Amino acid sequence: MTKIAVFISGRGSNFTALYENIKKGNIKNAEISVVFSNKEDAKGLEYAKKENIPYICIPSKDYKNRQEYDRLIVQSLKPYNIDLICLAGYMRIVTEELINEYENKIINIHPALLPSFKGLHAQQQALEYGVKFSGCTVHFVDGGMDSGAIILQKVVPVYDNDTEETLSARILEQEHIAYSEAVAKIAEGKVTVKGRKVSIKE
Ligand code: GAR
Repeated sequence: MTKIAVFISGRGSNFTALYENIKKGNIKNAEISVVFSNKEDAKGLEYAKKENIPYICIPSKDYKNRQEYDRLIVQSLKPYNIDLICLAGYMRIVTEELINEYENKIINIHPALLPSFKGLHAQQQALEYGVKFSGCTVHFVDGGMDSGAIILQKVVPVYDNDTEETLSARILEQEHIAYSEAVAKIAEGKVTVKGRKVSIKE
């Protein structure tokens, strides 16, 4: 059983998509053991409460030192014996404190085709650049921003009349599919990573 911690900062639609797909049996041999939020008012926490999923909230605004904050996270996750951390709209860069503790066990979803359009407002960046296709990327997390080895990507078209909202919605639909696919493959033990190269057994 792959024990997952999902990290959120806001809406949490990727978290709920993962949870629903586990419930439906689309992701086998996995459970969301705990939800972690760095924001007390994260919408996704309401869903965790409603579904009786254990959650931890440590407001990051109370901590100046990012290493100290991540050490606290490591401590608070210990009782859950976590195998996989899924960052899902978790709007913080994680430090080596977390990365070293969970080597190759932290993944993230980003709303662009990496390595293009890292960081915030990736969909708006894509629109401004004038790309004809964008999408989402599930990747391992390393010390950089949106820079770890790529697990899988989904592509969507960009239309002339797109706004940040319409493009974000089209990408988000694919995010929910991509993240669940990636987690399912990891839970089945089919994902291996060597340097930047990730292979997925069929
Ligand atoms: C998603 O679009 C996710 O890809 C993005 O934040 C949104 C969170 O939505 N993450 C990043 O931009 C990270 N760089 P959600 O809270 O509904 O899952």
